Amino acid sequence: MALRKIVTGEDPVLRKTSRTVENFDEKLGVLLDDMAETMYKAEGVGLAAVQVGILKRVVTIDVGDGLIELVNPVITESSGTQEDSEGCLSFPNEFGIVERPNQVTVKAFDRSGKPVEYHGTGLLARAFCHEIDHLDGVVFKDKVKEMLEPEPPKKRLFVRPKRK
Ligand code: NI
Repeated sequence: MALRKIVTGEDPVLRKTSRTVENFDEKLGVLLDDMAETMYKAEGVGLAAVQVGILKRVVTIDVGDGLIELVNPVITESSGTQEDSEGCLSFPNEFGIVERPNQVTVKAFDRSGKPVEYHGTGLLARAFCHEIDHLDGVVFKDKVKEMLEPEPPKKRLFVRPKRK
């Protein structure tokens, strides 16, 4: 595994649409391993491949309940609403209030090409929406209702809880 560099700020790659993964090969596995390592090192709860400069529809998420790997994810159902603070590893020290669905269902594939389905509520639903937006070149600041003052890292919602 290797750490990858997270692209930040106004890097134009963040605005591009990621391509559907067609080959569930060793290279995909390496990308997923590297993304997880990079996400944990940065203490983020989610990372999209575009954030490490790879335009593939690949996402890693861990809101504290274990690693979720998504390839070609699609939100198939969503309901309810939630409003909370949100940030992004590509926009360090920027946080804002974003409205998201409170429950979502995601269909995707795992690294071997097997179909998987997840149901997320609260923070996990938020993470699914945020990361899947990245695959279409959408960042949270496009949807923010109100930007917040930067907070000390431990108070940030979108920073992964410390392991015990
Ligand atoms: Ni993000």
